[in-house]
Amino acid sequence: MTTIKVIGVGMGEPGHLTGEAVAALNGVDVFFVPGHDPVADELSLLRHDLCRRVIAGHSYRVVDLEDPRRDRESPDYARAVSDWTLARATVLGTAIATELHGNEIGGLLAWGDPAFYDSTLRVLAALPGRSEPIDVEVIPGISSIQLLAAAHRISLTRVAEPLQVTTGRQLATKGFPPGCDDVVVMLDGDCSFRHIDPNGVTIYWAAHLGSTHQVLVSGDLADVTEEIVARRVEAKARRGWVMDTYLLRRTR
Ligand SMILES: C[S@@+](CC[C@H](N)C(=O)[O-])C[C@H]1O[C@@H](n2cnc3c(N)ncnc32)[C@H](O)[C@@H]1O
Repeated sequence: MTTIKVIGVGMGEPGHLTGEAVAALNGVDVFFVPGHDPVADELSLLRHDLCRRVIAGHSYRVVDLEDPRRDRESPDYARAVSDWTLARATVLGTAIATELHGNEIGGLLAWGDPAFYDSTLRVLAALPGRSEPIDVEVIPGISSIQLLAAAHRISLTRVAEPLQVTTGRQLATKGFPPGCDDVVVMLDGDCSFRHIDPNGVTIYWAAHLGSTHQVLVSGDLADVTEEIVARRVEAKARRGWVMDTYLLRRTR
């Protein structure tokens, strides 16, 4: 049976890898690395670099994949994502069929942890027309969510209270989720915190977590909104792209 290891690699730094992830990286024969735009390409270079830095005494190959693009103009987001998943599955399925030989083990490096807004497992589940099943092994990684909490020296949860993880799009369209006062927001290209009532809300914001470009801002949302918007623009200008995550905490 074909084995594929999905390895969470944190923010691509060796120090973010668990011991289990290091062992798994050293057992992979062929890594499949997608890329297609400046962000994906830089993240793909970080993956190449990570392999060079942590794999010792084991020969491996890296197969770069031309990742299909999502239709960003489509009004039907869910449909666009589902079409994109199928297109990526077709590319990955072809690469697995042609590049993995005999008992070779394949590897996919998931940014952060594959459990959070990562398509790797969904793409693997959608691989088309395989005659034999794939054994998928998941090795957890350190997520940007955990790095956010550590960088701000906070716990994301309060005593016996829930935590919600959501996206910038959800926050912008539906507002602060009801029934929950602690919300982690990811995938926000538009500073969606500007669209909620800032009264009684504290924000813990971070960009480029876990890298030398890391930027942190925290405070009452009303007081720091403009600062975060400006710091985000600066962070993006410096690197050409930016990824940010934040916790919104409502005071009762
Ligand atoms: C496609 S999701 C992948 C999340 C990833 N699986 C994780 O566990 O962090 C990308 C989103 O994760 C967050 N993210 C990833 N890397 C980040 C970083 N270095 N600093 C801040 N946020 C980051 C951002 O919200 C970004 O939009």
